[in-house]
Amino acid sequence: MILDGRAPDAIAEAARVLRAGGLVAFPTETVYGLGADASSDTAVAGIFVAKGRPADHPLIVHVAAGAKGAQALSRFAQPLPPFAQKLVQAFWPGPLTLIVTRQPGVGTAAAGGQDTIGLRCPAHPVAQALLEACAEQGVPGLAGPSANRFGRVSPTTAQHVHDEFGDALLVVDGGACEVGIESTIVDCSRGAPVLLRPGLITRDQIEAAVGEPLRDREVLDTPDPRASGTLEAHYAPDAKVRLMDPKAIQTGLDVLGANAAHIAVWTRSNVRSRSQRVLLRRMPDDAAATAQQLFAVLREFDAQGVKLIWVETPPDTPEWEGVKDRLQRAAAA
Ligand code: TXA
Ligand code: MG
Repeated sequence: MILDGRAPDAIAEAARVLRAGGLVAFPTETVYGLGADASSDTAVAGIFVAKGRPADHPLIVHVAAGAKGAQALSRFAQPLPPFAQKLVQAFWPGPLTLIVTRQPGVGTAAAGGQDTIGLRCPAHPVAQALLEACAEQGVPGLAGPSANRFGRVSPTTAQHVHDEFGDALLVVDGGACEVGIESTIVDCSRGAPVLLRPGLITRDQIEAAVGEPLRDREVLDTPDPRASGTLEAHYAPDAKVRLMDPKAIQTGLDVLGANAAHIAVWTRSNVRSRSQRVLLRRMPDDAAATAQQLFAVLREFDAQGVKLIWVETPPDTPEWEGVKDRLQRAAAA
């Protein structure tokens, strides 16, 4: 069932379901999350079952802004190192997740049993209203992975969530997500900031806020925490995705000529096809607009029944890193 998140009744109803240990999908500025009471291991178990996600994959815990959020922070996490505090100051509420050292005994299931926990304070007003209402009822935070089945494209509208899980799941509608790709994740549990997942907040912005260079996960010798968002093949539509330069795309279309079919093309450059059955779609020139559309475009192509999606490789600049990362993973599936 989809409820309008601007209605106070909807927030109250969603908070009631969450307080009782149920699942509710909710909007954030990045993608929709599948929420459960992060302090209840039983409630969180429901997320793993619904998503078909392995139970040792840790989830992000969403917390309110302001005083309630600060309380939640000290409940779930040990005191943050100074560089992590700078990130909180600079980017919360917003599309940034911090991996920090967990308080033993809380959020164990949400953390997938690891001694760290992912925390994020989302900027979406409906998410904040829900987190506030939950905190008032004694639910300190919401464990919330993206509200899609394991390995699939993240949802950026309430309808996408409904398409994944059907009518039995309560979905709070907050409109189409503005950011469109998942939060940037910075691991703050290893003494220096490590970029685990690129997103709208770029590495330059993070380095400027902390005043030290970001490490890459590859250069660390300590074992990596399990992060399904960092699995090679992830975010995959049904169709096969290929990243190509515009010349290769044009050559492919020319070779197939009027017989080309079941192909969708998403490019910034102008390309032409002699077939009416090729879907040509324009990619925005800027990275933020592309991110906003990305998952919806992949879902639309799937819905049209295409077998191949040819995407123009994005530029190698920091703003495009998040989009490029999601496309590479989609292409690896
Ligand atoms: O934008 C987002 O981050 C969205 C919205 C709903 O907030 N959430 C999201 O959650 O993308 P999910 O579960 O699909 O991706 C979270 C990523 C996963 O790759 C997970 O493994 C990683 O964060 N993660 C969570 N806790 C972690 C931890 N303690 N250590 C390492 N990675 C962690
Ligand atoms: Mg996900």
